[in-house]
Amino acid sequence: MATADVRRTSAFVRDAAEFIRQQARIALAERGEFRIALSGGNTPRPVYQELARIARDLPWERIFVTFGDERCVPPEDEQSNYRMARESLLVPAAVPDRSVARLRGEIDPRLAAQEYEAQLDVLATQKGEVIYRHDLILLGLGEDGHTASLFPATAALEEQARRVVANFVPKLNAWRLTFTFPLIEQGRRICFLVNGEKHRELIEKVLQGDRAYPASRVRSTNGPVTWIIGEAAAA
Ligand code: 6PG
Repeated sequence: MATADVRRTSAFVRDAAEFIRQQARIALAERGEFRIALSGGNTPRPVYQELARIARDLPWERIFVTFGDERCVPPEDEQSNYRMARESLLVPAAVPDRSVARLRGEIDPRLAAQEYEAQLDVLATQKGEVIYRHDLILLGLGEDGHTASLFPATAALEEQARRVVANFVPKLNAWRLTFTFPLIEQGRRICFLVNGEKHRELIEKVLQGDRAYPASRVRSTNGPVTWIIGEAAAA
């Protein structure tokens, strides 16, 4: 991986939430808005809870929340990334519904991806952008090196034009909705939020650029990728 901005911390939740709030303040100061893509899974939940606690004063009506990926389930399903974000951040921080774009996991995957991509394309066009530019894209790291729902040996890895696709994941025997690399790399800042205790060896392989792992292929056109890695407190 090109030079990464690696931050190891035993105060993972606090530091990650503070980083997000800082990125929001920078974007709001520079452009009057903050466009953030949330990652899913379990790791971000306490970070979103902390963000809701420390960032209630942010102008959430000028923040636009998207999702880097989603499971193909209804929004009330316990597997839904939207549900996790709603419980941990959107409701506690009183984020207005109009500030959130939900991937509709409950409909046909291809249609859900197309409609989301079209929504981002309209927003990009309004800003004179070819591809929608997030101010911050949060990403996680799966045990097989996947990120968003870009899993090893799946079709979405090879997508070089579309911004959002439906991706069948054989190991899960399930469809997923996901950002593609072309959309991710447009992010002004990209930040992996990772539990260092869980993926110690994998993280090193990804940081060394081992392309066997999709996370290694994440690039930003705008600078180094940031990694906030939670570590156990020094004994
Ligand atoms: C998802 C995610 C996925 C996640 C990793 C890590 O929908 O599952 O977006 O990419 O970030 O699988 O998940 P954990 O944080 O639960 O380890």
